[in-house]
Amino acid sequence: MDTYASFYQRSIQDRDAFWAEQAELIDWHVKPKQICDYSQPPFANWFVGGQTNVCHNAVDRHVTSRGDQPALIYVSTETGQEVTYTFAQLSDEVQRMAAIMQSLGVKQGDRVLIYLPMIAEAAFAMLACVRIGAIHSVVFGGFASHSLATRIDDASPVLIISADAGSRGGKVVPYKPLLDEAMTLSQHKPSAVLMVDRGLAPFTSLPARDHDYAALRQQHLNARVPCVWLDAAHPSYTLYTSGTTGKPKGVQRDTAGYTVALAASMQHIFQGQPGEVYFSTSDIGWVVGHSYIIYGPLIAGMATLMYEGLPTRPHGGVWWELVEKYQVTHMFSAPTAVRVLKKQDPALLSTYDISSLKALYLAGEPLDEPTAQWIADGLGKPIIDNYWQTETGWPILTVANGVQTMPSKFGSPGVPMYGFNVKLLDDNTGEELTGAQEKGVVVIEGPLPPGCLQTLWGDDERFVKTYWQSVPGRLVYSTFDWGVRDEDGYFYILGRTDDVINVAGHRLGTREIEESISSHPNVAEVAVVGVADALKGQAAMAFVVAKDASALGDAAARLKLEGEIMKLVDSQLGAVARPSRVLFLSLLPKTRSGKLLRRAIQAVCENRDPGDLTTMDDPTPLQQIKEQLV
Ligand code: PRX
Repeated sequence: MDTYASFYQRSIQDRDAFWAEQAELIDWHVKPKQICDYSQPPFANWFVGGQTNVCHNAVDRHVTSRGDQPALIYVSTETGQEVTYTFAQLSDEVQRMAAIMQSLGVKQGDRVLIYLPMIAEAAFAMLACVRIGAIHSVVFGGFASHSLATRIDDASPVLIISADAGSRGGKVVPYKPLLDEAMTLSQHKPSAVLMVDRGLAPFTSLPARDHDYAALRQQHLNARVPCVWLDAAHPSYTLYTSGTTGKPKGVQRDTAGYTVALAASMQHIFQGQPGEVYFSTSDIGWVVGHSYIIYGPLIAGMATLMYEGLPTRPHGGVWWELVEKYQVTHMFSAPTAVRVLKKQDPALLSTYDISSLKALYLAGEPLDEPTAQWIADGLGKPIIDNYWQTETGWPILTVANGVQTMPSKFGSPGVPMYGFNVKLLDDNTGEELTGAQEKGVVVIEGPLPPGCLQTLWGDDERFVKTYWQSVPGRLVYSTFDWGVRDEDGYFYILGRTDDVINVAGHRLGTREIEESISSHPNVAEVAVVGVADALKGQAAMAFVVAKDASALGDAAARLKLEGEIMKLVDSQLGAVARPSRVLFLSLLPKTRSGKLLRRAIQAVCENRDPGDLTTMDDPTPLQQIKEQLV
């Protein structure tokens, strides 16, 4: 067997031959004529001339060989619903959904925005889109009207698929009012809305625009909608993520590269086999949900368990109960979720028979050693950290046990995955750092491997400007993460270089939150900073200068304004972006040239030395922060 080092070297040095082999893992209608066209860097065109279809590879090709085996296991501990769809049944549901979408005017290349809770129809909708070449854009259900409206305007969808409500911790969370409000805020007005009515929350319909999914499904029960063979580069989906500016970025993925990349990752990283069961606890609104709830496991012929509910309800062992019941072999989650479980009775980790489980994969935020150790001891299973981004679609750093069994090191996600030519750059000189323990910016030399973003939706220029920089002789993609490498080539991720924060594994842009808070009539200036949090990794804290300071007379008045600001963020962006605290200052800490001292604010909040403050205009605000934190 290949050792990982030579496997990796080949992926970089003999790139096209390497990926030509990986391309054999999927079905093609027309085989590619060229593996990678990188004649216009940084734009990489993978599998040029090839034609395939993501849905064919995820569903149809399995129907003949294992049509009666489970494909989608849907469990909601919120509604008590528990349904297993075989590959044949999933194919039927996807074709019904595709027929409904076509009846509502959706054509190849059109965008379909999916704003749904974790229900099986979300999987049908995503698969139906890629089946007919419509480009889906899933918006996380925790986002509210303003976030939704900016995404509607950027994606300009023909159709929006939504539901009456989600449910969280037994509490109904209505979706339709937020959607209606978003559509009054947006410039673009989609002509059709498809509503999945779960019977959770009554809603009003616009008869000419809103359609009922159940009724249309009845009309299309016997629908047969073939997969459309798509050019390799045809966009499969866009997924919005946060960056430095307030405007979210529409990460755009292709068809063939993504399918090959996921198929390869299922083999080399996850070692998933047909007939096994994959349970990712993420949400379809995030990249992990796209790659490892929906597409990756299904492409590998595995069943995927889609779960609506909390890890602690009806009891703190519910995940392990599901592992036992459905014989889950692979689990994927985030460190925050494990930290939540850590507060439960540890006996719950050994109450159920989890012998089917092979490994637990964790990603999305730094995995701290105590959390990793606690879950490793409690489960007695390998815990595998992996580091990646919405932009890359699959792991950049981890261990590829499917190629060679490799040791994990706590605190490190691992080594660069095949195809990712990972480097560290000195932030000041832009030079490559080759020594051990040297801190630099984690970059990837172009071309990015298959499965990564092609561009940003509708904005090639922003794609180039945001991510790419020239270093002598080549172009590199910035991850915007700090990192170091040890003597064995294992990387350690040390946090973001930009203003993105990571709250409970959710990536948020501080500018978006600042823009929302600024719209409050009594806010003159605001800074939002990510501050270390024992449970969520980071928490967003807001520092506000009020226009009318007399409104802040006493503690009760400050609490009132803090409450108003939190409510405003809830209603515009969603509770996911709500700051954990709002502190009021007479001015923001800035340098004499007017630059906001974010790192100093963060250091004071984390009880660290704020460093050199000689350029600071006025020390009062840092003092005010200290006083309010005690
Ligand atoms: O800062 C890194 C952090 O999350 C960012 C990407 O977030 P997102 O686009 O939501 O994609 C998540 C895909 C799993 C990264 O730039 N991050 C992600 N995984 C890790 C991590 N930080 C440390 N360790 C990780 N394993």
